[in-house]
This record gives sequence, structure tokens and C-alpha cells, in this order.
Amino acid sequence: MESLADRAYLVTGGGTGIGAATALHLARLGASVTVVGRRKDPLDAVVAEVERQGGKALAHPTDVRDPEAVEAAVDATIEKFGRIDGLVNNAAGNFVTPAEKLSPNGWRAVVDIVLNGTWNCTSAVARRLIDADRPGAIVSVIATYAWTGHPGTVHSAAAKAGVVAMTRTLAVEWAKYGIRLNCIAPGPTETDGAGGALWASPEDRDRVLSSVPLNRFAAPPEIGDLVGLLLSDRTAYVTGEVLTADGGQWLGRQIYGPPLPTH
Ligand code: HXC
Repeated sequence: MESLADRAYLVTGGGTGIGAATALHLARLGASVTVVGRRKDPLDAVVAEVERQGGKALAHPTDVRDPEAVEAAVDATIEKFGRIDGLVNNAAGNFVTPAEKLSPNGWRAVVDIVLNGTWNCTSAVARRLIDADRPGAIVSVIATYAWTGHPGTVHSAAAKAGVVAMTRTLAVEWAKYGIRLNCIAPGPTETDGAGGALWASPEDRDRVLSSVPLNRFAAPPEIGDLVGLLLSDRTAYVTGEVLTADGGQWLGRQIYGPPLPTH
């Protein structure tokens, strides 16, 4: 239970959903956590909950699209906790739209958050680790449509595919510094953000659920648990990998004929 004792991590999109659950979990594993996101109130609520449970956390309102703001968040982490050991790239933006109706600004907003934001945070944290000659671990939250694609989310799918390529490239390039990089690909997870954007109606919810062989949504804490595993030394020999936690959803996609009854 103390697998991240005395370490410090930055969690982006840490105020809500998977990010908040991950921050709480990392704190329970002994880590200090800086939660960043655009809105201060949810970040403050996560810090209050971490502290109520006896952990250490810092809220730092930050837009991951802004490299200077990201640098400031890393500085604040080191100032407050004396170190930084890694990062969880969880911040995302997404909405469903036919590709032909997607405006240049809509494309830019999602790619800026998901791909450029991940690079801003990854490079900022890694440079500190390299300068300090310390090992570290970085986990990025993606989606299985990074490799399958998915109609209606061309911006997000393209950006998440870029994050996978970034992860695999840097896993090799920065192995010599002892920096590991991995991705986690959650399936449909019970959060307001994804749920509100992607399966808002009961019909959409049923449709999504019926696509999951294990026949349920993921709970945010179980994704946080896997992020904690990938940050910990229990996976010290794992780098450049994608851990899929989707209840079998993408493997169960039926290309020919009606879906097989899985439940
Ligand atoms: C069409 C839309 C739109 C929508 C925004 N836009 N929402 N177009 N349908 N529903 C367009 C806007 O019209 C605008 O283009 C451009 O996108 C930028 O919008 P802004 O609101 O100005 O941008 P911003 O405030 O930066 O917001 C970014 C955002 C927003 C991505 C649009 O939704 C956001 O910040 N979301 C964060 C939370 C989130 O989405 N979480 C879910 C992640 S789930 P124009 O041309 O009009 O200027 C996920 C993985 C799910 O990613 C995987 C499931 C398996």
C-alpha cells in the first residue's frame, strides 16, 4: 500500500473523473500529488479530500495548452514537495461531431489539449528528471480508438494516436535516463465528463453498455489503481506499453454480422 511513498506526481485533469480518482489513489499509496486543471474549485475539492484522508496535495489551476503555465505547475510541485517523480497525462477534451462539420477551431481545441498538452507536460517533467539525474514514470490516459479509430471523434482519435506514438518514441529515447512511459486505455468509465459528452441519453448509455463484453462501465478508482501500478516499481521493466482496461470492448467489436450474445 505504500508503493509510492515519498514520491510526488503531477496529475492533469485532476479535479474530476479519472484524474480525481487517480490523485486520491496515488495519495493513498503515499505520494504527494499536484492536481492541475482549468477550474480551481474542483481542484480544491480534491485537495481537501486528499488531506482529509491524511495525504498531501496541491491545487494548481493550469491550462495544459500553455507551456509556461505547465512549467509553473512543475515549479510549484518541486517547491512544495521538494521533488517530482512523474506525471499522469489525464486532461482531455472531446465532443462527438461528424468530421465534415468539425471546424478548424474545434479540431485545434481537442488536439491542443490532448496531444500538445501531453507533450507540454511530458517534456516539462522529463527535463526536470533529466536535469536532476533521477528516474521517473509517466502514464498517459488514452482510448482504444487510438488504434481502431472511431466515427465522430476524429480529433480525439488522431490526438490519442499521437500520444501513443509519443509514448513509444520517448520510452526508447529516455530509457537511458531511467524514465518509463506507458499508456492506459480505459473503456467507457462512469464519469460526468465522458458520460455527459459521449453517452448523455439513456439510449446511448445502453448502446455503449451493450458493446462491453463484461457488461458494465469502469469505475474511476479502478482506473486510478492501474495508473498507480504503472507508476510504481512493480512495473519497473514495463515501458512503451499500452494497458487496455475496457472490459473487452474493442476486441468484442463485431465487424461481420450481428453481435454475438456475450451477456
Ligand atoms: C461541435 C463543438 C462542440 C460540440 C465545442 N465545439 N463543443 N463543436 N460540437 N459539442 C467547438 C466550438 O464551437 C469551437 O469551435 C471549438 O470547438 C472550441 O470550443 P471552445 O468551447 O471555445 O473551447 P474550449 O473552451 O477550449 O473547450 C474545449 C472543448 C471542451 C474540448 C471543446 O469540450 C472541453 O474542454 N472539454 C473538457 C472535458 C471533456 O471533454 N472531457 C471528456 C473527455 S472523454 P468554433 O469554430 O465554433 O470556434 C475522452 C475520452 C473518451 O476524451 C473515451 C471513451 C471510451
